[in-house]
Amino acid sequence: MQTQEQTDIMTQEVIEGLKAQPKYILSKYFYDDKGSELFTQIMHMPEYYLTDSELNIFKRYSRQIVNSLLVDSRPVNLVELGAGDGLKTRLLVQALMNQGVAFSYVPVDISEEAIVQLQSKFKKEFPGLEIDGKIKDYEAGLGDLQHDSSSQNVVLFLGSTIGNFERKEAVDFLQMINQKLKKDDILLIGFDLVKDPDIILKAYNDKQGITRRFNLNLLERFNRELGADFDISNFRHYPLYDPLSKAAKSFLLSEKDQDVFFEALDETIHFDKWEFIFTEISRKFDLPTVNRLSKDAGFSVYRNFANEAHYFIDSLWKKLE
Ligand code: AVJ
Repeated sequence: MQTQEQTDIMTQEVIEGLKAQPKYILSKYFYDDKGSELFTQIMHMPEYYLTDSELNIFKRYSRQIVNSLLVDSRPVNLVELGAGDGLKTRLLVQALMNQGVAFSYVPVDISEEAIVQLQSKFKKEFPGLEIDGKIKDYEAGLGDLQHDSSSQNVVLFLGSTIGNFERKEAVDFLQMINQKLKKDDILLIGFDLVKDPDIILKAYNDKQGITRRFNLNLLERFNRELGADFDISNFRHYPLYDPLSKAAKSFLLSEKDQDVFFEALDETIHFDKWEFIFTEISRKFDLPTVNRLSKDAGFSVYRNFANEAHYFIDSLWKKLE
């Protein structure tokens, strides 16, 4: 559940997006408890190669990642933004333990369900692990970084979530992280790489229709939480891959001329037939773009870890200065 303040912000942002031309919904609203559960299902389906690719990186390189991120023998404050079900992080936690590193783990996620489940799973799997999950958004989660130099911060931002930001927003967000870090702190960040566009598109348009349900859950969420009356059978999940902007983009297409009433706002939003709502961008990256991004945000790339197929990299960045 959200606080009243969070609901007010959501109401504000949803109305702003649906009154804009073209209409849009901010993709952070995918992740209520239902949406987070659907995303976990997406991560486990065969078309969504991102998960397996990144898991492969952690299987191959957890030891090397740990060796690369340690600069001295200070304890590590491991903060993960958008921890989800912790599938990949398990391997890093295991490697830190194997190598005798003193550390605490702070998973941050906006879904309460996700944090509760992850905490209980990790406590069972790693008795003695210092874990302190936070139900917060990314920006608030960065408040859990250590400001004094008694420990080294390591921020994890995996899964290519950075791809959900347009270029300028990405730079702003990474600069914000940079400002909260100290010299020698680390950001380990995942990037989905440019590849066969057919492979990319399938990841966002699976046969089972889970991504379709994930996209439509936005409208169902507004029905539940904002008293809207979307008839989801009048909207179509419409994903595409645009090679020019190197991005997968998702839309909800209105198949009818229709009005939707929002009780919480006493507002009606009109949809023309074939009008679309832009719901998500998932940018794909090449190495020069990753390098430029790191420089623009005040980091230097220390090392890139790729999976065997070179579909994905986790890039280890160090704060300069
Ligand atoms: C969690 C943002 C990385 O963009 O690939 C998956 C979300 N959306 N299928 C992505 C998502 C539809 C995912 N990220």
